[in-house]
Amino acid sequence: MSTLAADEQSLDGVLGRVAENFGTPAFVYLTDAIEQRLAELRARMGRWFSFSYAAKSNPNPELLRWLAPRVEYIDVSSIGEFRLARAAGWAPERASFTGPGKRDSEIEEAIADGLGELVVESVREAVVADRVARAIGRVQSVLVRLSPSRIPRGFGDHMGGRPSPFGLDIESVAEELPRILALQHLRVVGFHIYSGTQCLKPEAICENYRIFLETFRTVCADFGLTPQRLVFGSGLGIPYHPADRGLDLTQVAGGVAPDLEGFIGDVRFHQTSLTLELGRFLVGEAGYFLTRIISIKESRGSRIGICDGGMNNHLPASGHFGMVIHRNYRMHRVGGGEALEKIDLVGPLCTSIDRLASGVFLPRLKEGDLVAIHGSGAYGLTASPLHFISHPLPREVLVEGARLRDATRALSFNDAKAPRAGDQPDEKAIN
Ligand SMILES: Cc1ncc(COP(=O)(O)O)c(C=O)c1O
Repeated sequence: MSTLAADEQSLDGVLGRVAENFGTPAFVYLTDAIEQRLAELRARMGRWFSFSYAAKSNPNPELLRWLAPRVEYIDVSSIGEFRLARAAGWAPERASFTGPGKRDSEIEEAIADGLGELVVESVREAVVADRVARAIGRVQSVLVRLSPSRIPRGFGDHMGGRPSPFGLDIESVAEELPRILALQHLRVVGFHIYSGTQCLKPEAICENYRIFLETFRTVCADFGLTPQRLVFGSGLGIPYHPADRGLDLTQVAGGVAPDLEGFIGDVRFHQTSLTLELGRFLVGEAGYFLTRIISIKESRGSRIGICDGGMNNHLPASGHFGMVIHRNYRMHRVGGGEALEKIDLVGPLCTSIDRLASGVFLPRLKEGDLVAIHGSGAYGLTASPLHFISHPLPREVLVEGARLRDATRALSFNDAKAPRAGDQPDEKAIN
């Protein structure tokens, strides 16, 4: 652990100390920035919503531990994420479990461990969950995930409005929902919609929430249901590229306020708790990927900086995580400098797709310099092909005020299994 003097607390001071104390490449997460973001979310959207953290965006164990007392719920999408959350201090009843391909064993473990809500994505999954719950004498709370028929333009990924593995298609609800409602060991407590991510257009986000409201209203009216909980996949995006403008939450809140007020004014939804499920908007901009220039090559009229971490550590920044066109992430040279110069930045892999920046203008870089890539707090390390070419794994550092803490994670999720009463050591042996 290393403590910063007050005068070193500028961003570059922090990043420099991270490199000095922990080495590079490294992901750096600033908890003060997450705290601010959370305060902003509560100020703008907290009138209507509680919040659920999507663990997939960044399941770093230390980060999960830091978030546990600050955010109401957590959404996991595998038993590995569930175990990580449990080991980080999240009570199981605060967890929901989404994902279109849950294995029977995952459903069994989560239900046995007291999972709050299983987000059922198909009739098949509901039947499995019902069997599991019956076998242990439980009634499991479930949210049924719905896939709307329409998503406004402006979202980075579409999980509805086209053939999709996620949830019940709204066109099939009349046939499929009764089969789920009839299962004796499941209690349908509400619905879940997550149909689009990474949107920077307030009006598109408002329009999407209106689609959710209409969908919830119709399904609940058709089946005479009064839901306890409705989960809204936030879709809130962050500015990754220099030309992106950050989302103005005031506009989102203002745009959707009349619709939400009308909705909760309806007697059917008086007692319903609404939850906004989100990942990147909470933690994405609080993270930086820090890499050091190993060497500079002048090649056929271009200047190329070769970095100690690249696509193997940070796939999204290299443009291979759902982007059609590669655009540079926001980045800066740690320590600043004048005289901008055009340079390409690549990682250490033996493939020409390992590229962190094409023709970016930065102060003149030399060997040993540090570059910080912004917007790296979500979908960084765990969205990357870490083992490709077997370079050392990147470090992860949590910065809490003046404190730097090594948050580098153990690689195997299985190591993070939360101990349960009656757990026996695994004595299975293969000869
Ligand atoms: C079900 C579900 N919840 C939450 C998220 C988190 O999205 P974001 O990080 O964009 O907020 C996703 C992203 O794909 C998702 O599929």
